[in-house]
Amino acid sequence: MDKQLHLSYGTIARSELSEQELRLESEALEAARKAYAPYSNFHVGAAVLLENGQIVSGSNQENAAYPSGLCAERTTLFYAGAQYPEVAPLALALVAINQAGRVPLITPCGACRQVMLETAMRFRPYKVLLMGPEETLLIEDCRLLLPFAFDGSDL
Ligand code: THU
Repeated sequence: MDKQLHLSYGTIARSELSEQELRLESEALEAARKAYAPYSNFHVGAAVLLENGQIVSGSNQENAAYPSGLCAERTTLFYAGAQYPEVAPLALALVAINQAGRVPLITPCGACRQVMLETAMRFRPYKVLLMGPEETLLIEDCRLLLPFAFDGSDL
């Protein structure tokens, strides 16, 4: 193999989070508490900081016909796109709560990564904060989460 892909990311301790990052976390947590997740009992919340200063949040919405449900990230990005079609996201924070409480941290599913990537292509790359109670994983460019992605230029 002569080629490699490189993913750079950082870890941030709780004590190092900025006020804005803490605000995003609390909006994401509030959203997670509003999740409709009766099947998995896994409550996910996302919060997106937009360039106009607005924070848009959302949660996973499940359905008895399982594939009809939607993850928190896509709920939130689609809602942001529907409400503020011309405004770029600057950062997306993600948190999760299960029956035992706050989950250390989760990473987005493949379908959400695809939507996150297209949102970046539409505007510009933005930050992803995968937030646990103790540690946050920071990815500066959300596109890094989906190497070899399919995008509009392939059509
Ligand atoms: N889920 C999310 O909302 N975001 C993720 O990144 C991973 C999974 C949701 C989907 C489903 O409602 C539940 O978590 C269990 O998979």
